[in-house]
Amino acid sequence: MKGKETDKLWGGRFASETSSVVEEFTQSLDYDRFLALHDLEGSRAHARMLANTGIITKDELEQILSGLDRIQDELEQDKFFWDPGLEDVHMNIERRLTDLAGAPGQKLHTGRSRNDQVALDFRLYTAAALQEWQQALKELIQALLEQAETHRDALLPGYTHLQPAQPVCLAQHLLAYARMFMRDHERIEDALPRVKVSPLGAAALAGTTYPLEPEQVAGYVGFEKVFKNSMDAVSDRDFVLEGLFIASMTMMHLSRLGEEFILWSNPGFGFIILPDAFSTGSSIMPQKKNPDVAELVRGKTGGVYGRLMALLTTMKALPLTYNRDMQEDKEPFIEAHRCVSSSVQVMAGMVAQMEFNRERMLGALKEGYLNATELADYLVARGMPFRQAHHITGRLVAYAEDKGLGLEDVDLETFRAFSELIHSDVYHVLDYEQAVKRRGTSGGTGPASVEEQIKDIHSWMDKKNGGSV
Ligand code: ARG
Repeated sequence: MKGKETDKLWGGRFASETSSVVEEFTQSLDYDRFLALHDLEGSRAHARMLANTGIITKDELEQILSGLDRIQDELEQDKFFWDPGLEDVHMNIERRLTDLAGAPGQKLHTGRSRNDQVALDFRLYTAAALQEWQQALKELIQALLEQAETHRDALLPGYTHLQPAQPVCLAQHLLAYARMFMRDHERIEDALPRVKVSPLGAAALAGTTYPLEPEQVAGYVGFEKVFKNSMDAVSDRDFVLEGLFIASMTMMHLSRLGEEFILWSNPGFGFIILPDAFSTGSSIMPQKKNPDVAELVRGKTGGVYGRLMALLTTMKALPLTYNRDMQEDKEPFIEAHRCVSSSVQVMAGMVAQMEFNRERMLGALKEGYLNATELADYLVARGMPFRQAHHITGRLVAYAEDKGLGLEDVDLETFRAFSELIHSDVYHVLDYEQAVKRRGTSGGTGPASVEEQIKDIHSWMDKKNGGSV
């Protein structure tokens, strides 16, 4: 026999030790150590089921459980010794358990493979992460809702092409974002039942000869469903990819909101004052208050998209069943999880403390001739064909611009020189508040619709807070 025999848990058939570069290359502790508590949870469930079915004795179960508890303490107190030579979280924990519990510890892996074990651990991790995002999303939606309620009557330009288009109320603008984050929350709700499926019992790939009860394991870990096909159970990573897609979509929404704040905090807009606690200064320019938080959220979005692409590409064309390539699923999801959780939280905090400058928003309405559509509609209501009304209004805007006036500042005589159809009631029509009020259709920016939207989001929140998430 050449060299020293390996002490790996799978070392029986190996005559010599693994090369140290290979050990370093194949170990996955950098990321799968974050699955440790879920690994313990899965092992407790598996051990209980083994005892219930008589595969291990009650006494052995007790020894396994107290060993697992001790490991949990060590992990929580940061006293657990991680040995990279033991490759991954599963074998580190199993080795420690055998040290602590002796022979019963060696029985824990009966009827189980790391292939179904890691799938269970990662499903538990993913489900917990998604539920954490839901909680953070609710806080963000709540912050948007509260600002919308406070600023129901504040008006600002609504934009298309980032050009001032029509007046809207601030609540309408903020609640548009609340809707995006509600959909992200609902996407998670929809994905969770596909995540919470227990793969334990699939073993390496083909099932097992032991009389296991996979439903019991699922029950212990709080999953409602159990795998239906062992080969699918150990090789499916759809649940991670769905999580990464939801992460990407949520970051995309956050980056859009972040972009609004970056623009609105620019003195050219001046619509918001960023909370001190959520902005930073410049090391050289004393006057600066920078929207770094929003910029970082915008910037981190690219990294999350990249992680979705990375795992899709890793999974592409992999034959059944488990392949070591799949170990590469942890890093993208764990990093995306950190990014989504922190980004949603900082944005919620920033929205909650943001101050709005109503005068600047109103000023921007005037500068942008945002009541031009009102004038065109006024002329149409008095019988003028729309194209002609559009043209005359355009000429009036050019005139007012030339004189440095808002449309509402043009005198009646001048109006009538452009069209005889215009009377003194035009000033009421040109009023911005009236313009917003007239958009009374359901879902529009009119006050009745905004009240309706606020009510609807409140009842959505009540349902999510009271019912199942
Ligand atoms: N560290 C591995 C992973 O994350 C665990 C499963 C290993 N299975 C195997 N047959 N080598 O994928």
